Amino acid sequence: MNRNEALFSLIRRLETEHRLERSEYEFLLANRTPEAAARLADSAVRLRREIYGNDVYIRGLIEISSFCRNDCLYCGIRRSNSRCQRYRLTPEEILECCREGYELGFRTFVLQGGEDGWFQDGRLCKLIGRIRSAYPDCAVTLSLGERSRESYQRLFDAGAERYLLRHETASRAHYEKLHPEEMSYDSRMRCLRDLKEIGYQTGCGFMVGSPFQTAKELAEDLFFIQEFQPQMCGIGPFIPHADTPFAGKPAGTAQLTCYLLSIIRLAVPGVLLPATTALGTIDPAGREKGILSGANVVMPNLSPASVRKKYMLYDNKASDGAESAQCVSELSRRMEAIGCRVVVGRGDARQAF
Ligand code: 5AD
Repeated sequence: MNRNEALFSLIRRLETEHRLERSEYEFLLANRTPEAAARLADSAVRLRREIYGNDVYIRGLIEISSFCRNDCLYCGIRRSNSRCQRYRLTPEEILECCREGYELGFRTFVLQGGEDGWFQDGRLCKLIGRIRSAYPDCAVTLSLGERSRESYQRLFDAGAERYLLRHETASRAHYEKLHPEEMSYDSRMRCLRDLKEIGYQTGCGFMVGSPFQTAKELAEDLFFIQEFQPQMCGIGPFIPHADTPFAGKPAGTAQLTCYLLSIIRLAVPGVLLPATTALGTIDPAGREKGILSGANVVMPNLSPASVRKKYMLYDNKASDGAESAQCVSELSRRMEAIGCRVVVGRGDARQAF
């Protein structure tokens, strides 16, 4: 069998069995061709249609705090970035975002933020309770980093049903190159397992093209995702931030991100897969390309306009146009232009996990 035949026979196996070995994922990544990408995108979109039809789910992303105790080497809101403008939304401001979002048609609110000690369990539980009773037909998703199992349980009991915590990389050695010594791969993985056991719809994910990443690390990520079977998976290109140690490192590409989106759709057919802001930032047609590679979720920004520029995870992070919740009608038009439709609804994961 030549290289190309081997590549397509792996793709056929992934299409039918929805799983591959680590080394096979590595082969798929190391031998990527435009023809393989087109074939994978085609099968991924077909599978997405079988499960989700032409529906694209929207989430209102509320960036509640730019304070963070962590010092991840890639991230613009890392603790040691003294140039980052720090802010914290009040519960009233967050509820106001939800009110506005509800009117715009959002039925999922994602509260995302740095690991900010102000948001202790008590305050968060109260806030989650207020959102759930004001908007009982909406889902609350949290994306607030690593916490204790007890804390995750309390937030779940208060009404949060989904949690996003990117694993960032499934390779321990690579994890250690992206994070300071005090952060641990084991603790990250422990959090993800706890979240899933507690009953959250759980999301993991990673950056594409992060420094030191090769086909081997990406194959680890894909294998981890296949085994973990998350309900959600967020991936986007790494984009350097000027005030971090990774300033000047090359960004990941839209093409590789789309290739990986297709593979993830095939490995976890029912997964909720966003075309992320980072993908829309490196490529103005990124959101469409993501959807046409198998993604089915978009997460426009619902934060107050006054803080949007302060939540700068990477340089030039997009927050206007279709990235803005206020422009959901523009987003709808763009999705319709590629044969999809934005729906008003909670957009839960389909299929058993
Ligand atoms: N480029 C792309 N994504 C980034 N994130 C953090 N910094 C960057 C960057 N420089 C991602 C991380 C994190 C999520 C909130 O944003 O994966 O989990």
